[in-house]
Amino acid sequence: MTGSLERLQKVIAKSGVTSRRKAEKLIVEGKVSVNGKVVTELGTKVTPDDKVEVEGVPLTKEEPVYFLLYKPRGVISSVKDDKNRKVVTDFLPEEIEERVFPVGRLDYDTSGILLLTNDGEFANQLMHPKHEIEKVYIAKTKGIPLREDLAKLTKGIRSDGELLKAAHVKTKSVDKKKNTAIIQLILHEGKNRQVRRMFDSIGYPVDKLKRERYGFLDLHGLNAGELRELTPHEVKQLRHLSEKNVK
Ligand code: URA
Repeated sequence: MTGSLERLQKVIAKSGVTSRRKAEKLIVEGKVSVNGKVVTELGTKVTPDDKVEVEGVPLTKEEPVYFLLYKPRGVISSVKDDKNRKVVTDFLPEEIEERVFPVGRLDYDTSGILLLTNDGEFANQLMHPKHEIEKVYIAKTKGIPLREDLAKLTKGIRSDGELLKAAHVKTKSVDKKKNTAIIQLILHEGKNRQVRRMFDSIGYPVDKLKRERYGFLDLHGLNAGELRELTPHEVKQLRHLSEKNVK
């Protein structure tokens, strides 16, 4: 008996080879074959019994794995680095053989929550701008921003042609002697270096940055450099959350 039909790009993404959008590109470029025949049609559906090859390499069906890492500062959000710096997958247990990659990225100098998985479809869904998973950041700023400066962040600022907007901003504490502030910022967006660019634009550069929360997930029970597997329930909840947020 054959299993259920699924779109080819979804099957490729699920296998951990690449994201769905990149899989679509590979299909259109004629780099994907099904049962030995090149397929360039994006609507093509396959069953688990079909033999799918990407650039001549058969898809191996990996079990999906999901981790929550407390990324330390000084680590690249990547699976390898040509300068040999530490990367986030260095923190995975040695027995993990799946091709695990980070869901989005945190800057080299940013610490905090980062999800890792080999499930391309899941990663794609969480990272898609329209899904807007809520993220909570704690920034230490050089200088103490005034209330009206912070208001600019919730109103939205323009940076390199992009509108960057915070859902909520709150000063947690200030150190007048050191002239620094600890500020909580809630984002529903995930643009490149967004928090740092936002604070730069109001004239208070970020000294330290940490992502404390990703949706309902926090760093409870973990030290920097430690990770844990997500529970099946958490994975389900994340899927649900990203589906619910679609505009
Ligand atoms: N915003 C940043 O500026 N850096 C990060 O790593 C995450 C959000």
